This record gives sequence, structure tokens and C-alpha cells, in this order.
Amino acid sequence: MSDPIFHADWFSKNIPIWDKYLGHLKGREYVNALEIGCWEGRSTVWTLQNVLTDPTSHITVIDPFLGNPENKVEGYERSVQDTFEGNIKAIGAENKLTLLTVKSHDGLKYLHNNHFDFIYLDGSHVTTDVLRDLVLLWPLLKHGGVIVMDDYEYKVPDMGACPGEAIDAFGRIFRKEYYELHRGWQMVWRKI
Ligand SMILES: C[S@@+](CC[C@H](N)C(=O)[O-])C[C@H]1O[C@@H](n2cnc3c(N)ncnc32)[C@H](O)[C@@H]1O
Repeated sequence: MSDPIFHADWFSKNIPIWDKYLGHLKGREYVNALEIGCWEGRSTVWTLQNVLTDPTSHITVIDPFLGNPENKVEGYERSVQDTFEGNIKAIGAENKLTLLTVKSHDGLKYLHNNHFDFIYLDGSHVTTDVLRDLVLLWPLLKHGGVIVMDDYEYKVPDMGACPGEAIDAFGRIFRKEYYELHRGWQMVWRKI
């Protein structure tokens, strides 16, 4: 076991919200989580160390490690998958994780309905991608399960990257199927 290595931190500011809405899962047996978009694994590592603490709990992670085009750093993404895998190894969690290195739209098709207690959506920022992700992942979330959607307030209209528009559109149509728990940079819902 050693310390994980990270080069960016988009996650730590969310910890109070995650503690509040995911705390009930901590230490429970057979909790299944899904993360779309992991980068170097800062949120994955936190989830494994603070929520999926029982040996029977598990996380499925989907990321093609291509980065997001509107904040691409040339040459940097090439090492991201190695860093991610090194970080998971560093915390000794290889056996609790399944990594699918494909785009979410391809990976989500292979997962089981009503399987996940928690889903974190933090992949593509492109509005149409986010809407497609929500449509595909919604049946995978258990009733009573929690979804956290990142970047609700992120907006780069010139690149068609406004996740909030997709979340609002999906939310309007599916409004009878969830309770809103939190609204801010992250949106948190509990599926009814
Ligand atoms: C902001 S980073 C994730 C950060 C991470 N969750 C954290 O909190 O540290 C976004 C990630 O989404 C991934 N991504 C971009 N498009 C994707 C897609 N279509 N499917 C899955 N992941 C995607 C990128 O490769 C990148 O690693």
C-alpha cells in the first residue's frame, strides 16, 4: 500500500455533499457503484476508501481515457490510465474494481438493470452525450439508489458542452422518478 498520485483536484470540494448523501452506504455489504469518467481516480479512490469499505462492495468504472476535448492538455492524457491503475493498486483495491476503457455509450449497454446503489456521472461534458448517458444509466440505478451528476453549472456553448441543459431536460421528463437531494455544481437525486 502507498499513497496515490494525482495531478488535478476536481473532487475534494464535493466531500461534504458525498458524506451527507452516501454516508448510509459506508460499511454496507454488497454495495455496487458505477463511475463514468474517472481521470486519475481521485473520486474513485475516495469512494473506495470512504463508501465501499466492505470487502464485498465493488465499483465499475468507465473511461476511454481520451480526456474532454474542451479542456484537452496535449500529450497529458497518455499517462492517465497508467496513473489511474497505479492509484488503485496503491490502495490495494484492484479486486474491488472493474474498468471498462470504452466510451460510456458503449460500456453502459453491457451493465445490468437495477444493479447500482450509487452512480457518479462525470464523463463527457457534451450536452448530447450527457443526455444519452442519463437515458442509458437510469435503468441501471436501483430504486432508492443515489445519482450524483457533476458539472451541472458548467457551460461552454461554443463546444456544445452544457451538461445542465441535458440534466434539466432529462429531469423534466423523468420528474416523477426521483427526489432532488442537492442542487449546485453537482446535482444529487434519489431514484424513487
Ligand atoms: C473531469 S474528469 C473525471 C474526474 C474524476 N471523476 C475526479 O473527480 O477526479 C472527466 C473524465 O471523463 C472521461 N470521459 C470523457 N468522455 C467520456 C465518455 N464519452 N465516456 C466515459 N468517460 C468519458 C475523460 O476521459 C476524463 O477522464
